[in-house]
Amino acid sequence: TTPLRLGIAGLGTVGVGVVKIVRQKANLLATRTGRPVVITAVSARSRDKDRGVNLSDYAWEDDPVALAKRDDVDVFVELMGGENGPAKDSIEAAIASGKDVVTANKALLAHHGQALAEAAEEAGRVIRFEAAVAGGIPVIKALTEGLAGNDITRVMGVMNGTCNYILTRMLDDGLSYDEVFAEADKLGYLEADPNLDVGGIDAGHKLSLLSSIAFGTQVDFDAVELEGIQRISIEDIKQANDLGYRIKLLGVAQMTGRGLEQRMSPCLVPKNSPLGQLKGGTNMVVIEGDAVEQIVLRGPGAGEGPTASAVMGDVCDIARGFRVSTFGIPAKSLSKAKTAQSNSP
Ligand code: HSE
Repeated sequence: TTPLRLGIAGLGTVGVGVVKIVRQKANLLATRTGRPVVITAVSARSRDKDRGVNLSDYAWEDDPVALAKRDDVDVFVELMGGENGPAKDSIEAAIASGKDVVTANKALLAHHGQALAEAAEEAGRVIRFEAAVAGGIPVIKALTEGLAGNDITRVMGVMNGTCNYILTRMLDDGLSYDEVFAEADKLGYLEADPNLDVGGIDAGHKLSLLSSIAFGTQVDFDAVELEGIQRISIEDIKQANDLGYRIKLLGVAQMTGRGLEQRMSPCLVPKNSPLGQLKGGTNMVVIEGDAVEQIVLRGPGAGEGPTASAVMGDVCDIARGFRVSTFGIPAKSLSKAKTAQSNSP
């Protein structure tokens, strides 16, 4: 059988997690997909850094675009991040050279998802991005595959591990913002620019991607009403607690008579509700569909193992020959949604 050959660009927390799974679970992956899954080449900013994994079996490229074009790569795995620059250039190069793409890059897809999905489909390639939304939770597969028979009416949830970690640890353990922030960094939760986390932008990116799949509309990140957690004080958190509530950075996307409403903002949720009990870097996504009614998905939203788990789910889909459109339906069939402001009548 023909092996599936991966080229991995980006060897940070997630990239290292993917290398570990491919190396440690060769038999499991081959049994599950029916073919060997191997890494042939890697790329990262610094070649000499000790990452705690053996990379000596793989070809090295300094330039991710060169990696994306290699003849011995079938799937380009983009784990560098960034809305533009090398991530975008190399994904475009990969598609142009006939590779499928797996990425964890929510910022890139929130801004360029439509164009990239169209390019991939014209070239007969797929882009999969399970790891971009809610870490280890297979929410994209749930929407595109498991719930394909539903009209989705609403998607909501907590989609940023860092914010949830900060908000819960401050209250539960009486730690300062700075202490919790340092811990989140150690756990590999933070974006390269942590303002994306605490500003709600990262969670907004993820919500816009889920909206597109749920409602068959083009990704429209600019239409997300955004508010971060920077102005939430420990007093706010304590006061909410005294009244029986927790503060969560909550996203809601729903199709209303006035159009598509997308909002990501700090919300009060009852302490004893599933959302109120969500701790640490955990994410929760609630999906409502006409046939299924409601399902709740909960799991780790960030970190090495969980995010690598989601990347490998996509890799295995491709190894098995699943060719689902990027946003569930052909990119050209995605409509432009009318935007509804959540607080207008
Ligand atoms: N910074 C993100 C978070 C990483 O904290 O959720 C996972 O997307």
